[in-house]
Amino acid sequence: MMPNAAAPATEGSDRSVPLHVAIIMDGNGRWAAARGLPRAEGHRRGVEALRRVVRAAHELGVLYLTIFSFSSENWSRPATEIGDLFGLLRRFIRNDLATLHSDGVRVRVIGEREGLEPDICTLLNEAEELTRANTKLNLVVAFNYGSRQEIAGAAQRLAREVAEGKRDPASIDADTLGRYLDAPDIPDPDLIIRTSGELRLSNFLMWQAAYSELVFVPIHWPDFDKAALESAIAEYARRERRFGGLAAKTGS
Ligand code: FPP
Repeated sequence: MMPNAAAPATEGSDRSVPLHVAIIMDGNGRWAAARGLPRAEGHRRGVEALRRVVRAAHELGVLYLTIFSFSSENWSRPATEIGDLFGLLRRFIRNDLATLHSDGVRVRVIGEREGLEPDICTLLNEAEELTRANTKLNLVVAFNYGSRQEIAGAAQRLAREVAEGKRDPASIDADTLGRYLDAPDIPDPDLIIRTSGELRLSNFLMWQAAYSELVFVPIHWPDFDKAALESAIAEYARRERRFGGLAAKTGS
């Protein structure tokens, strides 16, 4: 069972712990290569790191944890590796869903469902349905996800409403478009972490990242643990978030 986390502060208040942490779990392949192991072993150890981090995020008072599990661009990898990643998702849901549920974790999935194998869609739907009422931690799984695709989908839905005469184009502003993204009720990430030392967003939450703090850590994802999460959160707490305004000491 997960221990109770400190009560989260009201959304939008000054929190030293981010309400929403999003993670690009990078470096599984390099972790494996450095040890002479197959890439699949890196991904398998990546799932173990994921389990540790879900638990740690809750213990530290994070309310939303978004993980980049499979990107729209990952289809360009060899079929065997794609098969490994899908196999891990299947096993993760089958083996861990009951524990996540009893720990009060709500699972959400963002990304394109079309084109996924039917059994994967069924598992994702089951995970969302079973955990719908849970409130301790929201685990948002970005699967077959790409930010440009998500924004294009939102634009397409809005354009359809305009074409059907249901919407005036002049009514579309940034807030409107934001409401047509995959999970509009989830607050934007306060902190985005990328492991493995790469300094890119790679088509991850680009709309939602407008004012996120970015922390890049040099360790590969399979080595990521609670201490690494705490240290990324400490870095976040040292940042001054201005959201386009002035620094607290200069503004009045
Ligand atoms: C990046 O490492 C990681 C991924 C492409 C997938 C992340 C997946 C997991 C952590 C396991 C699966 C989890 C679920 C819930 C399905 P990389 O392969 O790009 O590493 P490299 O850049 O070192 O090659």
